[in-house]
Amino acid sequence: MKSDMYSTFAQQYDAVVQDNIYNALLERPTLQSMLDSVEGKDVIDLGCGSGIYAQYFLAQNARSLTCLDFSDDMVAIVENKFGDKVRTYQQDLSKGLPKEEADSYDLAASPLVLHYIEDLNVVMKEVYRVLRSGGVFAFSTHHPFADFECTTTGNYFDRELVQEEWNTVGEPVQVTFYRRSLTEICDAITNAGFSIVKMSEGQVSEEAKNICEETYERLRKNPNFIFFKCQK
Ligand SMILES: C[S@@+](CC[C@H](N)C(=O)[O-])C[C@H]1O[C@@H](n2cnc3c(N)ncnc32)[C@H](O)[C@@H]1O
Repeated sequence: MKSDMYSTFAQQYDAVVQDNIYNALLERPTLQSMLDSVEGKDVIDLGCGSGIYAQYFLAQNARSLTCLDFSDDMVAIVENKFGDKVRTYQQDLSKGLPKEEADSYDLAASPLVLHYIEDLNVVMKEVYRVLRSGGVFAFSTHHPFADFECTTTGNYFDRELVQEEWNTVGEPVQVTFYRRSLTEICDAITNAGFSIVKMSEGQVSEEAKNICEETYERLRKNPNFIFFKCQK
């Protein structure tokens, strides 16, 4: 899904996620704690944004790293940062992974991307196809419980396209994403053939207290993201 937040504001997004609460002190520590070392592994980053995970995978000496994103601006940032250390290209993940061969990767990571995709079944099946046997798909997405606050239908089990105004990049930006049930997420994972080996609702780092005590307290007491480690 094309979004101003990730194209017009790509540079601002890159600056903000380095040390903000939601990405740096909640999402990354939680998802990264669920991952094994990628040293010597082939990794694909699905919805790579400005490459903050790319940096993490390269620091661990991944054997190869492929990064793709819907936004050309994000892809350009990753190319500028890492050059030929990373294979990059623009791709709408909702259309699958047509440029990738089967059984090519040990890890597929997709932090905070899947809520922009309407039909998770296509993505799950494609990720399953490109992973080697035993390979891992690790992702985070909006927590269904948290997103239910945005419902307009009042039916938790209906998938809904919802719109919110976020201040992530320092100015208000309208963001649209899909709200869906936990059942829908888990069905897409298991129907593709994956086993869920770990699930987490995340834990905000205590450091967040020093940035905004109110946000820290809210995130300590309420789920915001959900994290899955799935295995082929
Ligand atoms: C919240 S950002 C996360 C970026 C990165 N994974 C991170 O953790 O910093 C969401 C990213 O998903 C990308 N995105 C949204 N819809 C997409 C789609 N259909 N296919 C591929 N990327 C998509 C956006 O362009 C954006 O870069």
